[in-house]
Amino acid sequence: MRRRSQDWFDRDDVSGFVHRAWTKASGYTETSYRRPIVGICQTWSELNHCNRHLREVAEAVKRGVLEAGGLPMEFPVISLSEPLVKPTTMLFRNLMAMDAEEMIRAYPLDGVVLLSGCDKTTPALLMGAASADIPAIMVTGGPMLTGHWQGQQLGACTDCRRYEQELRAGNLTREQWVEIEDSICRSAGHCMVMGTASTMASMAEALGMTLPGNAAIPAPDSRRLRLAEESGRQIVAAIDADLRPSRILTPEAFDNAIRVLMAIGGSTNAVIHLPAIAGRLGLELPLDRFDRISRETPFLANVKPSGEYHMEDFFYAGGIPAVMKELLPLLHREALTITGRSVAENVAAAQIVNRDVIRPLDDPLYPEGGIVVLRGNLCPDGAVFKQTAASPELLRHRGRAVVFRSLRDLDERIDDPNLDVRPDDVLVLQGCGPIGAPGMPEKGNLPIPQKLLQQGVRDMVRISDGRMSGTAFGAVVLHVAPEAAVGGPLALVRDGDMITLDVPARRLTLEVSDAELARRRAEWSPPPAHYERGYGWLYLNHVNQAPLGCDFDFLRRA
Ligand code: FES
Repeated sequence: MRRRSQDWFDRDDVSGFVHRAWTKASGYTETSYRRPIVGICQTWSELNHCNRHLREVAEAVKRGVLEAGGLPMEFPVISLSEPLVKPTTMLFRNLMAMDAEEMIRAYPLDGVVLLSGCDKTTPALLMGAASADIPAIMVTGGPMLTGHWQGQQLGACTDCRRYEQELRAGNLTREQWVEIEDSICRSAGHCMVMGTASTMASMAEALGMTLPGNAAIPAPDSRRLRLAEESGRQIVAAIDADLRPSRILTPEAFDNAIRVLMAIGGSTNAVIHLPAIAGRLGLELPLDRFDRISRETPFLANVKPSGEYHMEDFFYAGGIPAVMKELLPLLHREALTITGRSVAENVAAAQIVNRDVIRPLDDPLYPEGGIVVLRGNLCPDGAVFKQTAASPELLRHRGRAVVFRSLRDLDERIDDPNLDVRPDDVLVLQGCGPIGAPGMPEKGNLPIPQKLLQQGVRDMVRISDGRMSGTAFGAVVLHVAPEAAVGGPLALVRDGDMITLDVPARRLTLEVSDAELARRRAEWSPPPAHYERGYGWLYLNHVNQAPLGCDFDFLRRA
């Protein structure tokens, strides 16, 4: 089979001369560049802690590529650090995906190894690789080691949020807060609970785009480097076998990923990223498919924020292969993976080592999956709710709306002692969606008002068109679509309106008559645009709503 890189190096014209001469100028001999060329798509950055060890991971990948007869060539793409990038990394996920897609396509690469870690870096590289569609394998950076403070185990950032509430309630001193800050992040790697980074690494594994076991190996564990070396060998085999993403990322693979998402209590952000990846291959992933699979899939992984343990424990308990082995009766067993083998073959030897961390199928933590999809007049195009991370007594709730018009309005008033708010109210945030915020930031888990925290309240029903960090918890309705900024019904909610949430029935209802909603709609006008030029303008004019994964309309494949 003629390889892609030969179109650059096997030419007799001046272009072939230039390609060869400039490659020789980097010190490569003809023997090297005549081999299969493997790009290593690098998201290492000094600005991105979660990915700070990926240069060492790349060295391990290179050993494997060279050993298998390929030539590794590392190249940089945008790296997005969840805590540091403002206003939100989600604003730039599509930019990063475009960077990856175009660089993979533009260079003489026969295959690519995708190195990712922090939240958006994994879906962005999968989206880009799916569109470029040359053989690709992913190696994620792995979770940080578990944090420790005063005999307690800490997970970022589930415990950042938990202790921040205690600080605001007056139950924690500033000194203790700084001690926690010093103790929580012990190593390189991404957040060590089942947040978005761990979830998306698990999704990459469940989709078949990584070697089995990749997702949970802690970042500093030498087994991650060994898996990286093995991935380097495997990409050369995948080039020979022409194992492109379009052969692996099939409807069956997405079903498997959603099944695993539900079983691990994964991040709600996967309900945005998976449709975006699928859209790059022309596949639809409607919200109802998530809900159907959720109803059929027991929740097995006892990992924060829905459970008690951390990713390190999850790794020792067997990781994603053990979960998938348990789920095999519910999975598409024959789905092809980057190993060239089926899902069932990949996990044949896996086993659960600790049944408290990973429950067997016949003794789950919860009979249904972690995430459900809500419908109703407040969210005609759907909304998302993580039932395993919510207070059980709030799964059915009726309350009075307390409305915040924007993130600024929220910041200014949430801790106002005169705010008219009661524990059984429903906090509503407008203008936090893909266009409204912009970038759909992870502000959907609105803080509990300070005066209620001081009364001992730790959870309330909260509703927004924004997202929530995968590490967060609470009775939080997210991704309300259409969003308020484009005139969705969320924009029409007023203080004092009654709202009913019924998670078992999958309903979210604004108890206001159609006539009154029509009257309010006639008075509504869209907010001013956040950007008039540049990437921000491109984003505002082309971003899709949450059910389509917030990808740009022109990047989805018809
Ligand atoms: Fe990077 Fe949490 S901050 S994964």
